[in-house]
Amino acid sequence: MVRLWGFEIDESSGSFIGADVVGKEVRASSLVAYFPSLSPDDDRVVYQTETALARDDNGLHVATTLLFPGTFAGNFSMTRGHFHVDPTLGEEMVVLSGRGELWLKSREGEVTRLSLSAGEEFSIPGHLAHRAVNPHEVPFVFAVRWDDRCGHDYESILNEGFGAR
Ligand SMILES: [Fe+2]
Repeated sequence: MVRLWGFEIDESSGSFIGADVVGKEVRASSLVAYFPSLSPDDDRVVYQTETALARDDNGLHVATTLLFPGTFAGNFSMTRGHFHVDPTLGEEMVVLSGRGELWLKSREGEVTRLSLSAGEEFSIPGHLAHRAVNPHEVPFVFAVRWDDRCGHDYESILNEGFGAR
């Protein structure tokens, strides 16, 4: 168990302990628009998230993601990724367990890939799109917190991709 941003979280699963959350499972079949070679029948869970209903002491939203290892349609498991509509509002990320990559992309299309392991943290600048990728054999579990006034732009990634896959 780790204590982070006022919450207790099981680091191996990303599950909040004693907090009300909204959970979500994202299956390969729901990512077909991003990865056209995926089968709409592929029901594997690529990642699962929990978002705490209560905000942290700074009024920020806190969520965790467990990104399963594995590949689908020639890609490593990855989240969809998004830009923030407001480029002045970034996001903090803390790796809870495992390891993985954080891909960052500018509006000009420049992509940077960072390798992050358990215990490491990174402040994502608000102007860079962010996508988590798991090219390893163990789950990549991380927590993020953000100001929800940032707005989420998934559309740009849907239209342009992430430049590197
Ligand atoms: Fe974000």
